[in-house]
Amino acid sequence: MKLIDGKATSAQIKEEIAIEVKNLKKKGLKTPHLAAVLVGTDGASMTYVNSKVKACEKVGFNSTLIDLPEDTTEEQLLHEIDLLNKDADIDGFIVQLPLPKQIDEQKVLMAVDPNKDVDGFHPTNVGKMTLEIPTFLPATPFGIMELLERYEIETSGKNVVVIGRSHIVGRPMSILMSQKRKAGDATVTLAHSRTKNLKELTLQADIVVVALGVAEFLTGDMVKEGVTIIDVGITRLPDATKKRGYRLAGDVDFESVSKKAGYITPVPGGVGPMTIAMLLKNTLLAVTKNFS
Ligand code: GUN
Repeated sequence: MKLIDGKATSAQIKEEIAIEVKNLKKKGLKTPHLAAVLVGTDGASMTYVNSKVKACEKVGFNSTLIDLPEDTTEEQLLHEIDLLNKDADIDGFIVQLPLPKQIDEQKVLMAVDPNKDVDGFHPTNVGKMTLEIPTFLPATPFGIMELLERYEIETSGKNVVVIGRSHIVGRPMSILMSQKRKAGDATVTLAHSRTKNLKELTLQADIVVVALGVAEFLTGDMVKEGVTIIDVGITRLPDATKKRGYRLAGDVDFESVSKKAGYITPVPGGVGPMTIAMLLKNTLLAVTKNFS
């Protein structure tokens, strides 16, 4: 079993980005500037947004955090988005999800200028991704594709089962891996809560991407020997033995699955750090337009 080290790979990608930023600056070009909008005080969201802002500093980007109260109205948030769309110094921005219930998420995502949509959530960018027109790819799927490529995991003609059909991870993963591209050309099955014969499907899979948000869902008896496992889940489970009161668990029962896997991403230190690195990559692309 080999661990797919997302922490080390993301550090390497950040180094590559930092070099590109230095080159941009040397040429007198613009320093990339990412803004993040956080509404409310959800613990996990605050942690993620702070990590994103800190990562910007590390690669030499400028960053702005817009911190809005829990009771922000949809109109107020749309106004902030309008300001970011019009601000020439901001190259890209994200609105951290989930949003408080008084705000219509779809309306908000539609309001983001697709050219600054470094999350790749706007319908224009989802459409471009689907049609294989170069654009911003959502950061988590982008990070997984990058891991598969850098670890040279064969995907062509392989059976891939993606568990979970979220707009942010499962659905785009299923689209990307079925495309004619690097880490693509796979035969993809998108499984979800209504799937009836999941174990039958996962036992046939060469690669399983688990993104349903249920801690330790995938167990060793559900996979074949030599399988590649990509674990997107990250759940806080109460744990009194830990100082912070919780431990982080993935969607995969690492103990049993790692005994059979050829490759596996750990939690933490697998997919998570890649998401941030690819958000930075998208912000750089917003400046250079050097999509490949
Ligand atoms: N919430 C969970 N994942 C993400 C993400 O990739 N981007 C944003 N904006 N919110 C999220």
